[in-house]
Amino acid sequence: MPVYSISHVENVRVCVVMVGLPARGKSLIAQKIVRYLSWLSIKSKCFNVGNYRREIAGVEDINAEFFDPNNKEGLKFRREAINLAIQDMMNWFSNENGVVGILDATNSTRERRDRILKLCRENLIEPMFLESYCDDQDLILQNILDVKTTSPDYVDKDIDFATSDFLKRINYYEQTYETMDQKTDSELTFIKLVNVNTQIILNRIESYLESRIVYYVMNLHIKPRCIWLSRHGESAYNLTGQIGGDSDLSDRGMRYAKKLPELVLKSLGEENKHTNLTIWTSTLKRTQQTASFLPYKKKLQWKALDELDAGECDGMTYEEIEKEFPEDFKARDDDKYEYRYKGGESYRDIVIRLEPIIMELERQENILIITHQAVLRCLYAYFMNVPQEESPWMSIPLHTLIKLEPRAYSTIVSRIKADIPAVSTYKEKGTSQLGESITGKNISKSRDLIKDSDVV
Ligand code: ATP
Ligand code: F6P
Repeated sequence: MPVYSISHVENVRVCVVMVGLPARGKSLIAQKIVRYLSWLSIKSKCFNVGNYRREIAGVEDINAEFFDPNNKEGLKFRREAINLAIQDMMNWFSNENGVVGILDATNSTRERRDRILKLCRENLIEPMFLESYCDDQDLILQNILDVKTTSPDYVDKDIDFATSDFLKRINYYEQTYETMDQKTDSELTFIKLVNVNTQIILNRIESYLESRIVYYVMNLHIKPRCIWLSRHGESAYNLTGQIGGDSDLSDRGMRYAKKLPELVLKSLGEENKHTNLTIWTSTLKRTQQTASFLPYKKKLQWKALDELDAGECDGMTYEEIEKEFPEDFKARDDDKYEYRYKGGESYRDIVIRLEPIIMELERQENILIITHQAVLRCLYAYFMNVPQEESPWMSIPLHTLIKLEPRAYSTIVSRIKADIPAVSTYKEKGTSQLGESITGKNISKSRDLIKDSDVV
């Protein structure tokens, strides 16, 4: 049976129009929405007008005065940039079946917003405005230091110049900025985030897709935090090469469980060693046994973190599956993301059941998740933007703690390996044998910026 995403069912196309002064987190929010929707197989793309502007006007002569509303030359370039972005976005909607396009610019005047509104309506695209309003001066300054002083607009410029120039740029924008409000904009679909979700104003949110975006954005926060991921320790089934089941840890798996608190401490570092973590496990014994020596009070079990259900193949080895169900074995290798075990699940099914986990993860701070190979691949794919066709083939070895440190536009990944051997449960395409081939590429390693720390 074909699997349809909600966009196919509703047949809607949405243009999210970002609104707000510079350094209000618009690009960050836009990129997160794209990552989240793409993970859910909803075709989305961000059109950043700043990039178009740099392309047509260069960066050499760009300083705050370029953004002066009385600078005719600057206005000409800026108008050209937004026009190009809109044009590309409309082409993408019609030629590439785009579903959610995000127009990432300040869009800070009603005149500009009305123009976009008109274009969207002419093209039967639902416009949804998303404003980030912020008057917390300390936060704005922090944002400038965090991301703007290193922006392509300030290559080779010193931090003090970049900071004061960017503040001047904001002043110019303030001269014409018109924030959204429920009186003047009562006819529009919009969400207005005030001071990082201290207050959220919603107006005319109508379609299911819009409400999904709204719900996601409402759950975001910007406090610094880390997420740790680990598979359970080696299990009895891992030793025999069987998949699924609810077996206990092997002796070596138990040693990993005892070692895990030390790995976590090492990854926290001396100054953060008292950080309190919340532990999430699945409902299966092997993840709970792995968590049992961790000295943290808050431990939660989630059914949604249980391993991929292999249905009729539960308890079999890959060799047995290849022998007994050769067609299924091949079909899975051909399209591992979509293949659903008879009476069981596919990777796509896991992503769907993980959505509430992702939503809760966005709300939370420091969390350590102990789960299973397939589930961990899907979680990792969300944070690292790994494409669907790659994610089921990622190598995530046993007895390794992964730390994810979300930053403004990237995530830093580090891995600490326990000095406790474990079998490999990695099966390459085209074979039923376990273990990573010497020629096979380790996708998770080749894609990301991973810092591998010492073996502990
Ligand atoms: P510009 O208009 O110059 O492109 P921008 O509004 O797109 O600016 P970003 O580049 O996304 O701003 O700024 C990222 C910074 O904003 C990060 O430091 C992030 O922590 C912070 N941030 C994220 N969300 C918010 C928010 N809702 N309000 C204020 N700051 C936020
Ligand atoms: O072998 C360990 C395991 O967690 C199995 O229980 C599960 O079916 C499998 O990994 C998922 O990995 P793959 O999708 O590569 O078969």
